[in-house]
Amino acid sequence: MKVVRTVAGVRKALEPSRAGRELGLVPTMGAFHGGHLALFRAARAECDTVVASLFVNPAQFGDEADLVAYPRDEERDLRVAEEAGVDVVFAPAVEEMYPPGYQTWVDVEEISRGLEGAARPGHFRGVATVCLKLFTVVRPQRVYFGQKDAQQTALIRRLVRDLELELAVRVLPTVRDPDGLALSSRNVRLSAEERERALALPRALEAGREAWSTGSDPVAAARAALNGLEPDYVELLDLGDATVLAAAARVGSTRLIDNVLLEGDLE
Ligand code: PAJ
Repeated sequence: MKVVRTVAGVRKALEPSRAGRELGLVPTMGAFHGGHLALFRAARAECDTVVASLFVNPAQFGDEADLVAYPRDEERDLRVAEEAGVDVVFAPAVEEMYPPGYQTWVDVEEISRGLEGAARPGHFRGVATVCLKLFTVVRPQRVYFGQKDAQQTALIRRLVRDLELELAVRVLPTVRDPDGLALSSRNVRLSAEERERALALPRALEAGREAWSTGSDPVAAARAALNGLEPDYVELLDLGDATVLAAAARVGSTRLIDNVLLEGDLE
């Protein structure tokens, strides 16, 4: 596995892998868990060359404290990526992605507005910009994203359509711990007691899904099952081909998001 830190380095490393071969990119911010692994494995199964980017993107963090506290363990991540069959890890420094004078931003207008976009102003502008830059640098045929961040996947699909990017967006289902909590890099920040309380989030979404399947209001059912968790939002999100019930809540100082598919298909 190659680890490269510059745009020029990635281009050079990937040159021999291009002609007639499928290249897959898995964009990440590191602190790998089973959700990232599922994306690596899908890319490994479907592509000749698998590239993972590892970049904690400051442009998508509104809150400096959240950025500073974001879990980082590059040494472990590189081991995990290598074991999962990743061929190239692109792990640039902030100055490589946003050199002095950087001033170009991608705004996917409507999709960026609600839910996470409303709770985290500027977040999706940062996501769209870094992803487009990664797509431009790596030039993959396929990119891999998780349903866990459903609004993000909708944003990426829109970006790809609007800018006529020649790549397929693959969306993989949310990987959960056996008790139902969606895997997240932020889960390591939860104390045992907070983790127990956090379980109300997937349980509430499940209650919402059940309500929907019997014709009742999923948002009301989910809100009623939150067991004291104060949500930022509990809302239906229309993704075109699918509808999900999405929620975000703070548990202690950790903000968690999750969603369940109500109808349609995200893949
Ligand atoms: P990050 O949070 O590291 O997530 C990288 C990818 O893993 C995303 O596509 C995310 O949806 C997926 N993922 C996270 N948890 C998952 C889970 N439990 N099951 C399945 N997939 C999961 O999302 C980002 O990074 C950034 O916004 C990024 C796209 C890299 C842009 O900076």
